[in-house]
Amino acid sequence: MTLTVQPFDAPLGAAAAGIDPRAVDAADLDALKRALAIHGVLVLHDQRLTPAELLAFSRRFGEIEYHVLDQYWLPEAPEVYVISNIVENGKPIGNPREGFGWHTDLSYMPLPTAYTFLYGIETPATGADTTFCTIYPATDALPAALRDKLDTMTARHSYAMLHASRPWAAPLTEQQKARSPDVFHPMIRTHPITGRKGLYLGGATCVQPLGLSDDEGRALIEDLYDRATRPEHTYAHQWRPHDLVFWDNRFVMHSATEYDRARYRRLIHRTSVRGEKPY
Ligand code: SIN
Repeated sequence: MTLTVQPFDAPLGAAAAGIDPRAVDAADLDALKRALAIHGVLVLHDQRLTPAELLAFSRRFGEIEYHVLDQYWLPEAPEVYVISNIVENGKPIGNPREGFGWHTDLSYMPLPTAYTFLYGIETPATGADTTFCTIYPATDALPAALRDKLDTMTARHSYAMLHASRPWAAPLTEQQKARSPDVFHPMIRTHPITGRKGLYLGGATCVQPLGLSDDEGRALIEDLYDRATRPEHTYAHQWRPHDLVFWDNRFVMHSATEYDRARYRRLIHRTSVRGEKPY
């Protein structure tokens, strides 16, 4: 089989085909990483992947990062994080509210996620799109003075702050707090494959630029999010069951969207592959 990559009619994203995630050789892996560095998001339709197969494919890209919220780990494969509105025996089988609001994954880790993999097992017929944007158009269009300033700036990324913005979420355990101390990353990072520079924004509720007052920091973050997530920079993935969608968090942001939770079940298995320290 030969990998083919067909770009979407959108600023990012492409359909991949001609590849079996259960049998990826070194050349395929290299081609997939390069395609991700160019297109940002790849979609493989009609996959049938057990959790072990999803994990094995993800591991080819690097080390798996466990999610902070261990209550949503898949019991038989804890590296797989479950996103779902399904409740069994009175207990949610996954996080029902994961990923709302634009963000890159696990930016609050010392080695934030490079690649995320979502495998859709049950997906609503309408709604629940995952929307993506590429950070490069907004970065390239920054006014020169702001760009120069951002080039020298660092931001605090804090899971504690993110969690505090979610009043519905269960309090963090001491172990979960210990696993997620604040970390510091540059506000502009370099992509390790292409060398291209882009804003690194994490999630709006977990990032605090250093050297600014709280109000100034919030205003800057709001301005940068507005620039980054304009509709003309986005692609919305409309899920079909058995889609495997994966992306490069080093220049792609994403957000979950709502759906009719009373009408539809949604079950997504997610894995996250650790990247490098942003530079
Ligand atoms: C995520 O942010 O990883 C989840 C996105 C989604 O469920 O659509």
